[in-house]
Amino acid sequence: MNATLVDTPKIFSEAQDFMPLKGTDYVELYVSNAKQAAHYYKTAFGFQSLAYAGLETGLTDRESYVVVQDKIRIVLTSPLRSGSEIGRHIDKHGDGVKVTALWVEDATVAYNTAMERGAESHLLPEQLSDEEGHIVRSGIKTYGEVVHIFIQRKNYNGIFLPGYKAWDSHYNPSSIGLKYIDHMVGNVELGEMNKYVEFYQKVMGFAQIMSFDDKDISTEYTALMSKVVSNGDGKIKFPINEPAPGLKKSQVDEYLDFYEGAGVQHIAVATDDIIETVTQLRDRGVEFLTIPSTYYDVLEQRVGKIEEDIQPLKELGILVDRDDDGYLLQIFTKTVNPRPTMFFEIIQRKGARSFGKGNFKALFEAIEREQELRGTL
Ligand code: FE2
Repeated sequence: MNATLVDTPKIFSEAQDFMPLKGTDYVELYVSNAKQAAHYYKTAFGFQSLAYAGLETGLTDRESYVVVQDKIRIVLTSPLRSGSEIGRHIDKHGDGVKVTALWVEDATVAYNTAMERGAESHLLPEQLSDEEGHIVRSGIKTYGEVVHIFIQRKNYNGIFLPGYKAWDSHYNPSSIGLKYIDHMVGNVELGEMNKYVEFYQKVMGFAQIMSFDDKDISTEYTALMSKVVSNGDGKIKFPINEPAPGLKKSQVDEYLDFYEGAGVQHIAVATDDIIETVTQLRDRGVEFLTIPSTYYDVLEQRVGKIEEDIQPLKELGILVDRDDDGYLLQIFTKTVNPRPTMFFEIIQRKGARSFGKGNFKALFEAIEREQELRGTL
């Protein structure tokens, strides 16, 4: 079987929106030093200070910094003492995504619906209030130790969530044009991909919109398989990868080894001007996977005419792919952690709704060159 766009003309119509999701509310990472991580995301990725919770707001066990860029909110949380659940998570996984929070109309209905349809509970619906109003939140488990928190915020006017205060900083590096989270990819163990595809279909009403097998995503040495699920309006897209047998250890195996289990592999963030965004990121020290310059020799033959000049794309290492609906430009950072685990993708869509299948081979060979340096291939 080749890569299949499961349902091209009515791509998301299979999704049953019995649990309408209004978007990604925030992503929370458990990290060993939230203060310094926040500085990194501000300095390198152009996020702004938004909110803070910690000792000064009455917390005794942890500290969280919230940074924002357009529709993207990232919460960075560290423990304040030993022996905590957050500390255990960091010890096991290193820095990584703990929560993908989803914005819903009614967090109690979302929770009850998910539970009736077979979800595993993480957090019973609870109301949190302060002088700005109240929110309701609830949570269910997904792959690995990742959870989805449903956030109902229609009765809340505060800066982020009750318990947080505004984080006013004199240090405000400019935005680099990141707009929203386009998709978030999970790596799961061999044989688990279909289980989680079914989870998103059955529990959340998502549709499977694409599928790639090891023939699509393989190089001389390694392979993986991937399926993409999406909610009804296409705002929330979760590709799920599992390793496939190959001559050497695939990037998914390497991730599972170092993360010690399933987890979020990459967060793809959208921009309207990838050349400007990537230029800024590079200037601010972000490292990207590099692609052989021969990639660009045959680029226009492969994807046809595009609006961008090839030269800046080549200089920056930006990849291009085309599908039936248009084209997309994308680039991948190197891992942002000491462990070879999570990384970011920067993506600009010009009509295309797919994920860059035409770049898989070049990309995975680039990752293998990095694995080779780490001695983990
Ligand atoms: Fe991606």
